[in-house]
Amino acid sequence: MRKIESISSGRVSKNKENIISLLKNKNKSLPTKYLYDDLGSKLFEEICDTEEYYLTRTEKEIIDQYSMDIIDTSCAQEIFELGSGSSKKTKRLILNALENNDNVTYFSFDISAKALKMSYNQLRKISNKLHIRLIKGDFNNDLNILSSSKKNRLYMFLGSTIGNFDDIQAKKFLSDISNIMKENDSFLLGVDRVKDEKIIKMAYNDKKGITGKFNKNILNVVNKEYKLNFNENNFAHNAKYNLQKSQIEMYLEAITQQSIILPNKESLDINIGEKILTEISRKFSEKTLKMLFNKSALVPIKCYTDKKNYFSLYLLKAKKYF
Ligand code: SAH
Ligand code: TRP
Repeated sequence: MRKIESISSGRVSKNKENIISLLKNKNKSLPTKYLYDDLGSKLFEEICDTEEYYLTRTEKEIIDQYSMDIIDTSCAQEIFELGSGSSKKTKRLILNALENNDNVTYFSFDISAKALKMSYNQLRKISNKLHIRLIKGDFNNDLNILSSSKKNRLYMFLGSTIGNFDDIQAKKFLSDISNIMKENDSFLLGVDRVKDEKIIKMAYNDKKGITGKFNKNILNVVNKEYKLNFNENNFAHNAKYNLQKSQIEMYLEAITQQSIILPNKESLDINIGEKILTEISRKFSEKTLKMLFNKSALVPIKCYTDKKNYFSLYLLKAKKYF
């Protein structure tokens, strides 16, 4: 197994205290990054394969169709993928980059060691001209300490993970990318689009209940991390579509009255029907994207979409070079 490089700006400890206020708040929430421990990463892969979850297969279809154009337009010599997960969709892009270059470096950046291992296993046999680097870090805190390179780099952020940020977080993340980009670098961003509400709702409420398991697993992760006493059987998975905000809101809803002992030893009572927000998933329109790119100093060069207009991939450049 390849060595995992670990980077951290040391800001992680601040989040430890935050969890108390997030849970004591009237509108309770948990940081979404805790969805992705070993089991969470495995369950996410299973979600991607469900019939209802159209995002992964649609994005893969777009990549497979336009991969050569993406590689040619970006002149990519290196690929740097953020929140890479298992890198399944990336394979085609790497193969095309290898057609244009003697050697290619692929950086897999993720907070989950399990995801990095899956990524390595996915790609290790492709070619001895492919160099793989596995980096464990937090894309909300660690982007400004990433090393740069003289080669043309294609940054990638797929799976509509950008939709899991609110507007302020998204602007910060995209601005961080725009700041670290050099003149010949490009950025490929995958976004899920606004569409029929029923199709969206089904994608987050699969029949087999895998999304529910994925959601509840966050409780086991925070239990370990903060020595809490959540019991996942006391909660139900509840994913709703907020039409006004064009976003899925994934909650854990208490089905019994319960008491949680917080890290500061205070006891927190949770009543039946009280909800904890674990993740949002925003769906974008042309207008919301245009505004977001503008605020983040990014310029779209190309947009690739499927026939049904369900999902899009944007190829972006940093505004500072225009
Ligand atoms: N890009 C993949 C996976 C998307 S799921 C795909 O399109 O299928 C989101 C990925 O981001 C997971 O692999 C998760 O482990 C990672 N992730 C979540 N929060 C993160 C954070 N704060 N920093 C880095 N990676 C994170
Ligand atoms: N980026 C994925 C998405 O927004 C993450 C995800 C998968 C997810 N399943 C989920 C987010 C269920 C919220 C609820 O689709």
